[in-house]
Amino acid sequence: MTDQAPHLSVLCKEVVDALSPKEGGVYVDGTFGAGGYSRALLEAANCTVWGIDRDPLAQKFGEVLSRDYPGQITVLSGRYGDMENLLAGVGVEQIDGIALDIGVSSMQIDDPSRGFSFRGDGPLDMRMGDDGMTAADVVNEMAEQELADIIYRYGEERASRRVARAIVTRRSEQAFTRTGQLASAVRSAVAKSKDGIDPATRTFQALRIYVNDELGELDRGLQSAEKLLGPGGRLAVVSFHSLEDRRVKTFLQERSGTGPRPSRHVPQMAAEQRAATFRLIAKGGIKASSDEIVTNPRARSARLRIGERTDAPYVQAA
Ligand SMILES: C[S@@+](CC[C@H](N)C(=O)[O-])C[C@H]1O[C@@H](n2cnc3c(N)ncnc32)[C@H](O)[C@@H]1O
Repeated sequence: MTDQAPHLSVLCKEVVDALSPKEGGVYVDGTFGAGGYSRALLEAANCTVWGIDRDPLAQKFGEVLSRDYPGQITVLSGRYGDMENLLAGVGVEQIDGIALDIGVSSMQIDDPSRGFSFRGDGPLDMRMGDDGMTAADVVNEMAEQELADIIYRYGEERASRRVARAIVTRRSEQAFTRTGQLASAVRSAVAKSKDGIDPATRTFQALRIYVNDELGELDRGLQSAEKLLGPGGRLAVVSFHSLEDRRVKTFLQERSGTGPRPSRHVPQMAAEQRAATFRLIAKGGIKASSDEIVTNPRARSARLRIGERTDAPYVQAA
């Protein structure tokens, strides 16, 4: 990326190394954002890149990049979980590599009008795209128990019941419309921790994941990658917290036959009898260097996992 980049790409060199783009290859950048990975892929080889992003803002960055690489980059609007359809729509059936950089971009988190952040006040939205329920819809309408479950499951918030109670009490007085209102309700229910992390962090993360169905997207995206990658094609996924990373790790372990063995008392499972569809690269994943973390603290929690597609047929959905 250039110095004026609105979003500093994380583990960009490692992702490009993982995909090692080749002349004439076809690659997918499933979370295009500001196009940092796409640009680096195009710089590395005379290839074609299909960007995908659900945020309409990505189109603007796609236009900038296509001025430098005319005919080599197109950004498709939509969800990467739906990439099979999106790519079929442009006649692409097989690809040589795919990168996913899960989560929000700096353009999204730093803009209070997008409603992702508890730091600046803004409308309580949190949608990456422009469809579906907003975070305000969720906190104003959802039953208390369900709200508590979401905050626990996606935010790993131990005080989830207290937070849900505080939200329900506040909304009975006044509906939530602003991020500031929600942050204040959460802070009233959760004590400040010694590490200085804002008590609203976990609840905001949970709502963001729920509103955007981020884990469902990841599951669909991994399965689609398995279908679309040709033999030898690489999947590179960067994730920022354990909920996502665990899913990527489990998927790759399961598909490469390297996962933990079930008890010998349990009858052999179908997964064990299948031919591996991926070969695991860099077991344990790759973390950002200390140099990268100094220039981009967001890289601290990132982990890149890589799989190389074999020629075994993809696993049919159950
Ligand atoms: C961390 S940023 C990617 C940054 C990008 N790698 C770069 O270098 O500029 C994540 C991007 O993925 C997009 N995104 C997240 N989930 C998505 C999904 N399910 N489908 C499509 N885009 C998604 C977000 O809108 C955001 O623009």
